Amino acid sequence: MSARIIDGKQVAAQLREQIAAEVAQFQAESGVTPHLVAVLVGGDPASAVYVRNKQNACSKAGFRSTLHKLPAETTQAELLKLVLDLNNDPDVHGILVQLPLPEQINEQAILDAVTPLKDVDCFHAENVGLMVQGRPRYLPCTPHGVQQLLIASGTVVAGAHAVVLGRSEIVGKPMAMMLVQRGAAANATVTICHSKTKDLAGLCRQADIVIAAIGQPKFVTADMVKPGAVVIDVGINRVGDQLVGDVDYGPVSEVASAITPVPGGVGPMTIAMLLKNTLTAARILTKMSGIAGR
Ligand code: GUN
Repeated sequence: MSARIIDGKQVAAQLREQIAAEVAQFQAESGVTPHLVAVLVGGDPASAVYVRNKQNACSKAGFRSTLHKLPAETTQAELLKLVLDLNNDPDVHGILVQLPLPEQINEQAILDAVTPLKDVDCFHAENVGLMVQGRPRYLPCTPHGVQQLLIASGTVVAGAHAVVLGRSEIVGKPMAMMLVQRGAAANATVTICHSKTKDLAGLCRQADIVIAAIGQPKFVTADMVKPGAVVIDVGINRVGDQLVGDVDYGPVSEVASAITPVPGGVGPMTIAMLLKNTLTAARILTKMSGIAGR
């Protein structure tokens, strides 16, 4: 059996179109153009590509986008000052500090400094807390993109055993929390596996849904996947001049019922969900400024 391919490019394009229509309507009603500001520190080529893709998606969907490109030697104090200025700028709705940051910078301190209302990555403890309690302000972009792919592919998540490989703050942990909530593409029974997990392959084999976010090329092999399972590959690893996921795509697609490709799976969805959060941020901040002005 060969797995159905879950086409993230196509699903993301549909979502971006929907969001663009909502942006146009919001703009007509409020006179406000949602504005995302990205901050890129240093010259990491992969980060530069990600940020460029995010900016292109913004302009295509009718958002305003600004890039602050800072040198690799930027100090903690300089970056902190920029973030605080952006927090206080009423024309800015979303702030995205692209990770990773250079080693002289305390990443957590910078992310903590982004005002929760403009935290469109959903990295701030306040936003993570709201999400875990099931009353989200924003949803973290990559896990939310995965949920949208599960919905688009008709995957039954309620009651399924979902195994999340990886416990990162950006993907693994929030993914597991979102799958266990009540709601669409949720109500799953969730196992989180990580580098210290005993019999990871055995647990993975029990999964109805595998979410691979472990950051190791081709980590998930065919013998780790139950026949008919749905496999979502969040990994983007550079091997030579190729991009390779965390899943050994060819052999696993002979066992799984549905699978995401790399590239063209989860990646485009992250950007679409970032646009959604930025529109939400613009709505929240515009409403608040209207109330404050009364
Ligand atoms: N670096 C890799 N993924 C992400 C992401 O989703 N957001 C930010 N800000 N940086 C990243």
